Amino acid sequence: MATLPKASDYRKADHPIDPIFVNRWSPRAMTGEPITHEELMTLFEAARWAPSSYNEQPWRFLYAMRNDPHWPTFFNLLVPANQEWARNAAVLLLIAARTTFARNNKPNPVHSFDSGSAWCCLALQGSRMNLVVHGMAGFDWDKAPQALNLPEGFAAQAMAAIGWPGDPDLLPESLRKVETPSGRKPVSEISIHGRFPR
Ligand SMILES: Cc1cc2nc3c(=O)[nH]c(=O)nc-3n(C[C@H](O)[C@H](O)[C@H](O)COP(=O)(O)O)c2cc1C
Repeated sequence: MATLPKASDYRKADHPIDPIFVNRWSPRAMTGEPITHEELMTLFEAARWAPSSYNEQPWRFLYAMRNDPHWPTFFNLLVPANQEWARNAAVLLLIAARTTFARNNKPNPVHSFDSGSAWCCLALQGSRMNLVVHGMAGFDWDKAPQALNLPEGFAAQAMAAIGWPGDPDLLPESLRKVETPSGRKPVSEISIHGRFPR
């Protein structure tokens, strides 16, 4: 397993925060080594405690472990640009969400928002465990529901690759160049006191 670059060498918070936030980032280099069932359950356990509207917990995490019979189904959904590096993941995930409230079957307008919260808890837990956890929107959105047997009323939200950090030198040149923690917009741009300025 490789040592991940220290994110704090590339990132600086402008306001005091817990280091967990700047230390999480999305590398692509992975070794292909498996993670254990217990390690995977720890990631889902973190996601489990995310807040959600009416505590509906609309998220579902469908997964394939490397070399299990489900792997090709998940892997084949990815666009080629993601297959290029995600082939060395230990786990592929598809995050799905129930789009209606279980309590009354009315549309749940925050199903994506709530599932994103759960995903972020999983990603932060993974970062704490020195795992690569890398979200992916680059997959076949049309094929995913049928390929993974999503029931009516559930919608795909994103996919993710999880694995142990690998040697960035083994990535293709184009990906090696961007294998560093990225920056962010300033807080002054993302926070708006009052109405949105026009
Ligand atoms: C929902 C979501 C979809 C993403 N889709 C892709 C993708 O298809 N391929 C990819 O290489 N990275 C993807 N990313 C990674 C983002 O590019 C990355 O999170 C962003 O640049 C911020 O960098 P950081 O996660 O290292 O802080 C995705 C991230 C998220 C959260």
